[in-house]
Amino acid sequence: MTIMKKVLVVGASGYLGRYVVNEFKERGYYVRVLVRNPEKIKTPGPYGEPAVYSIADEIILSDVACTESLDGLCEGIDIVFSSLEMTSPDSKRNNYDVDYLDNRRILHQAVVEKVSRFIYVSAFNEDKVHDLPLNRAHELFVADLKASGLSWAVIRPNGYFSDMGRYFSMARTGHMFMVGNGDKKMNPVHGADIAKVCADAVNGDCRKITVGGPDIYTFREIMEMAFHACGKTPWITQFPMWLVDGIHMAVRFFNSNLAELMSFAVEDVKFDHVSPAYGNRHLKNFFAELAIAPK
Ligand SMILES: NC(=O)c1ccc[n+]([C@@H]2O[C@H](COP(=O)([O-])OP(=O)(O)OC[C@H]3O[C@@H](n4cnc5c(N)ncnc54)[C@H](OP(=O)(O)O)[C@@H]3O)[C@@H](O)[C@H]2O)c1
Repeated sequence: MTIMKKVLVVGASGYLGRYVVNEFKERGYYVRVLVRNPEKIKTPGPYGEPAVYSIADEIILSDVACTESLDGLCEGIDIVFSSLEMTSPDSKRNNYDVDYLDNRRILHQAVVEKVSRFIYVSAFNEDKVHDLPLNRAHELFVADLKASGLSWAVIRPNGYFSDMGRYFSMARTGHMFMVGNGDKKMNPVHGADIAKVCADAVNGDCRKITVGGPDIYTFREIMEMAFHACGKTPWITQFPMWLVDGIHMAVRFFNSNLAELMSFAVEDVKFDHVSPAYGNRHLKNFFAELAIAPK
């Protein structure tokens, strides 16, 4: 008789987390999810990610930041998966508080309650864009995870289709801004494809796994594709990198929160982001689906 393994999914209402819940259920796991708003997972997400309320075996309602004790969260759990990250910028809590400290609380509970493996989602190209607050927080957590004594896997995905969906929303307005000349390349990846990689990571050595999608585009090509998908002529206003770098430096002096937000848009487009290709879902089809979805 095979024993059904139990997994805890933290971040289950997010873009990737929903696909991960779905993937583990399809593979026959018992899935406990932690969410702070159960209503959110009753309907599909804005980029087509699945509703998972009715397929989860157990739903724990908790805001990790506000819950005094997480005792019992990992009780009986074999594998913890976390894609918890800061969803909306907040003047009170930053990436360090959410992406590092909140995940560390989950890790602490996993150690105390003796789970066998912890799968964490960080980001790709962490060494190139290490100065982003988000990446700094991710890497602090990864260091703690490696030192925790638990068996671990760190998934390092390229940009998600959900992020490309934001380009699509901008294209719908008929106009986009671009930092730099848009010639850097990336291979974005669909949440369902990454979820397979995450579920495959339950076994084996402690390791990092880098993953991207099947097609490589420049940033400019992605923007143009988004315009074409919604039937608009591309209209892109380009800001030279030196100008944006200068504004970014200046903003740091009077609004550190805004500067942190800007840093992602500024730093990310300076490098190619091409990671090992995986999956069979194509960005062109994703944009076509967004174009016919109800607004
Ligand atoms: N987006 C990309 O292109 C990309 C690329 C590479 C790597 N990554 C990494 O992949 C991971 C997942 O990304 P994603 O786009 O799936 O994230 P997401 O959609 O923003 O989901 C984040 C999840 O964390 C939850 N969360 C945040 N604070 C919480 C708290 N205090 N208590 C309980 N839950 C909390 C959110 O809950 P609510 O729904 O209630 O807010 C949500 O379920 C992140 O670590 C991200 O850095 C992302």
